[in-house]
This record gives sequence, structure tokens and C-alpha cells, in this order.
Amino acid sequence: SVKVGILLSGRGSNMMALVEAAQDYHVALVASDKPDAAGIAWARERGLATFTQSPKGIPKADYEAAIDAALVEAGVEIIALAGYMRLLSDGFVARWAGRIINIHPSLLPKYKGLDTHARAIEAGDAVAGCSVHIVTEELDGGAVLGQAEVAILPGDTPDSLAARVLEAEHRLYPQILAEFVRR
Ligand code: GAR
Repeated sequence: SVKVGILLSGRGSNMMALVEAAQDYHVALVASDKPDAAGIAWARERGLATFTQSPKGIPKADYEAAIDAALVEAGVEIIALAGYMRLLSDGFVARWAGRIINIHPSLLPKYKGLDTHARAIEAGDAVAGCSVHIVTEELDGGAVLGQAEVAILPGDTPDSLAARVLEAEHRLYPQILAEFVRR
């Protein structure tokens, strides 16, 4: 089956959903820019191969070369970003062109970037949601592969909305990744 590498920066709940649902693919590496990310600890406990590289104090090119080498070493064919909170360079994206996907907590093309839930509530939107898209050089700008909608309820805060959207993320991402590796 197709070897997937997952990049994360924190909690890793989307990574966990991808691991639990793995059938048409398998998770060959979980990598993080944050060595103490909760998601990395979980992946280690699971016996998954992990790699951490802090970008602190080294040129971005060296940081990305280290991650790239780890992905190649693990035989990774597709990269799934799962709460990876760092911009990949144009060079890295070009090297993996069409083979990196990301989950973003908004209905793209709305609310690229950060603070998506606060912005959706502020705008008075009735629905929020999440999108899985191809990663290109343009931030949150690549082709959308799938989306899930979630109602915004009266009294929602960014946190309460984020929690509801996150549940939708955990259903959407494994489904779209499975379709993507079969394509
Ligand atoms: C998720 O909501 C994901 O959509 C978002 O970060 C969270 C990570 O949670 N990603 C971005 O904002 C990307 N710019 P997780 O670590 O529990 O999967």
C-alpha cells in the first residue's frame, strides 16, 4: 500500500485519525518540527517511525533537507500535513509537487491562514467547515479535494466551533486521503 508521511506540530488528532483509518495506505513516518509535540509521543507509543527536527538555529534549507531525507529514507510517496504550522518553501513543495495534501479548518477559499473560526464567527457566517487540498506554493491555495460543512450555532466561540469542526476533520481527512492514494 501507499506509504504516507505525516507532518505535524502539536496535538496530532488528525494524524491519529489518519493512522486509525489506514487501509489503502500506511503511515511510514510521523515527523514534527516540535520534538515535544503530543502527536509525536502518541506515534512513538504506537510503534510508528517518527522523526523530529527543530528549525531553531539552522537555515530553513537545512531544516527542510533533514525532513526531506527522513521522508525519502522511509520510502514516503505522499505527504499529509496535519496541523503542521510552518510554511514549506517553494523548493520543497516543487520537489513533492502534487504529492502533498493538507487539512485546513475553513471552507476554502474562505479564510486562508490563521484564526479561521474567529473570522467565520465575526463575519456572521451560518456555516463553517474544513477542507482538504493539494499543497502548492500559494498558502492554502491548491485544488480542493474535499470539504465538510458544520453549522455555526448561536453563542459559538472560536473554541466551541473549532471543536465541532475538528470532529468533521477527523471524518473527512481519512476519507479524502484514501481516495487520493487510490486515484
Ligand atoms: C486542525 O484543526 C487543523 O485543521 C489545523 O490545526 C489543527 C491541528 O489539530 N491546521 C491548520 O490550521 C493549518 N494551517 P491536530 O494537531 O489535533 O490535528
